[in-house]
Amino acid sequence: MPWEQAGALFIAGTTAYAAVHAVRAGRGETVVVSGAAGGVGSLVVQLARHTGATVIGLASEPHHAWLTRQGAIPLTYGEGVGERIRAAADGSIDAFIDTFGAPYIELALELGVPSERVNTIIDFAGAAKHGTKADGCAEAASADVLRELGTLIADGDLEIPIACVYRLDEVRDAFRELERRHTNGKIVLRP
Ligand SMILES: NC(=O)c1ccc[n+]([C@@H]2O[C@H](COP(=O)([O-])OP(=O)(O)OC[C@H]3O[C@@H](n4cnc5c(N)ncnc54)[C@H](OP(=O)(O)O)[C@@H]3O)[C@@H](O)[C@H]2O)c1
Repeated sequence: MPWEQAGALFIAGTTAYAAVHAVRAGRGETVVVSGAAGGVGSLVVQLARHTGATVIGLASEPHHAWLTRQGAIPLTYGEGVGERIRAAADGSIDAFIDTFGAPYIELALELGVPSERVNTIIDFAGAAKHGTKADGCAEAASADVLRELGTLIADGDLEIPIACVYRLDEVRDAFRELERRHTNGKIVLRP
């Protein structure tokens, strides 16, 4: 595995793994993912697809082609996203994984997803208020999970998208890019 992918894998990978397991995504179900092209979201989308679920990924248009290649249905977020999700799901929406933050817990509940099948990795106040799950890396940070993820990568079944790689002395630029919150995959610092 290239160093950049190895460096990016642990937190994002274990967090994505925990989120997908928290909502018990499964074959024949429909799962919505917010921040679907981001560092964690890009892995959530792929791991949810491996369960056999239909995945609807919310992302800006430049990232739709990548989501389509992963077998997900890309949708633009913003005004009217609830109606677009209902139309794309063509039936019930079984689970929702939020990697962006508010207002996605509320949206998931409006879409009829049961609170125990909503997981956020960022909106902890929303999770406490609405009784949803908030599993993240702490719930999956183990050698066994890393081995599973590493095997998927080695077999070509999991892609760790690297948005950009910065030298350590470019760390300010890396944080500026991170704060924009529009990457496809991980930002990596190379010491
Ligand atoms: N709980 C845990 O264990 C845990 C672990 C790791 C990370 N986190 C947290 O999880 C969050 C996400 O991390 P990340 O590394 O995945 O972030 P990221 O790579 O910065 O992802 C941000 C994504 O959000 C999307 N986005 C931007 N505006 C949006 C909007 N209004 N609605 C929906 N999506 C929007 C962007 O998509 P477009 O570019 O397509 O616009 C981008 O792909 C961070 O706050 C991080 O601290 C928690």
